[in-house]
Amino acid sequence: MTNVFLKGIEKRFGSVEVIRGVDLQIDDGEFVVFVGPSGCGKSTLLRLISGLEHISAGDIYIGDRLVNEVQPAQRGVAMVFQSYALYPHLTVRDNMGFGLKVRKVPPAERQRRIGEAAATLKLDALLDRYPRELSGGQRQRVAIGRAIVGHPDVFLFDEPLSNLDAELRVHMRSEIAALHKRLATTMIYVTHDQIEAMTLADKIVVLRDGRVEQVGSPRTLYENPANIFVAQFIGSPKMNVLPADAAPLLAALPATPPSAESVGVRPEHLTVVSPGEGVLRGEVTLCEYTGAVTLLHVALDGGHDCLVIYDEREMPGVGSVIGLRAEGQNLHFFNQHGQAILASAHST
Ligand SMILES: Nc1ncnc2c1ncn2[C@@H]1O[C@H](COP(=O)(O)OP(=O)(O)O)[C@@H](O)[C@H]1O
Ligand SMILES: [Mg+2]
Repeated sequence: MTNVFLKGIEKRFGSVEVIRGVDLQIDDGEFVVFVGPSGCGKSTLLRLISGLEHISAGDIYIGDRLVNEVQPAQRGVAMVFQSYALYPHLTVRDNMGFGLKVRKVPPAERQRRIGEAAATLKLDALLDRYPRELSGGQRQRVAIGRAIVGHPDVFLFDEPLSNLDAELRVHMRSEIAALHKRLATTMIYVTHDQIEAMTLADKIVVLRDGRVEQVGSPRTLYENPANIFVAQFIGSPKMNVLPADAAPLLAALPATPPSAESVGVRPEHLTVVSPGEGVLRGEVTLCEYTGAVTLLHVALDGGHDCLVIYDEREMPGVGSVIGLRAEGQNLHFFNQHGQAILASAHST
């Protein structure tokens, strides 16, 4: 059983508070993804769990064991970095076996585990090569292999695919998903890539400025964001958020809760209609054709801008005036603090 439990975690570097009280429960075998803007503390939190950094306050439990004072090597975790961090003068085989050698695992067992990991990651043919003789994707596989051979209780990944080109990222993403399925080991994964977070995670943790904004399944975060920050961080292109009194929006909206200061609607939930028909009206200022869909930039009557995903073949030209419709169920209402007003709270 390797659950991970963070209780009141704080981290200061000198006088700078980087992690400001994080509580988090990660279940055994779960794939948890940390997302958030650059500098919000994702890597720091991962390094605190690994033991590479020491916490300033709080408690970290890994598999029911309090590990605050436990050395990184004794925590049962393995970390994979964006930079791979391979030893250039060692072969793939020796890179993968290095940690085991340090831990005095006997040679036969070492080779058995390297063979096993190499088969899992399709590295068999590359075992005698040096890192410089490998592609980026192959190097990242070796870095993952080095983590696997230690049979860790928890894998920690810090943006492991960020240095790969787009095609390879998609491929490695599916490999990591398959790996998690096969090993069923607890994984904590940091990324700034929306698609990676949404596709890999059982549970996403949205961080901002050293605090947890929301924890939930990808679907929960997309459909029921707790606040404007999460609403606009999850989903791409980001959710339109308009003041609730933006004319002529409010008049036409059903059941707007009285405390609503702003209304959110995702670009994919706005439908283009004739100017007289919508709940919103505006002028198209830019059409970005991407193939499958077109992204319309619309200057709304009343002075606000919004984005619309348009999937019809014939698109409205720049300068044309259009109406926009949204289904009530796809609207998000937020109070003056930017917190979501729950559907149940405004249906009464
Ligand atoms: N060793 C350190 N000393 C001082 N400040 C640090 C150190 N490591 C990280 N920070 C600061 O902590 C904040 C969070 O960094 P980090 O965890 O790397 O963010 P993220 O991974 O989310 O981009 C940043 O402002 C960063 O400058
Ligand atoms: Mg980072």
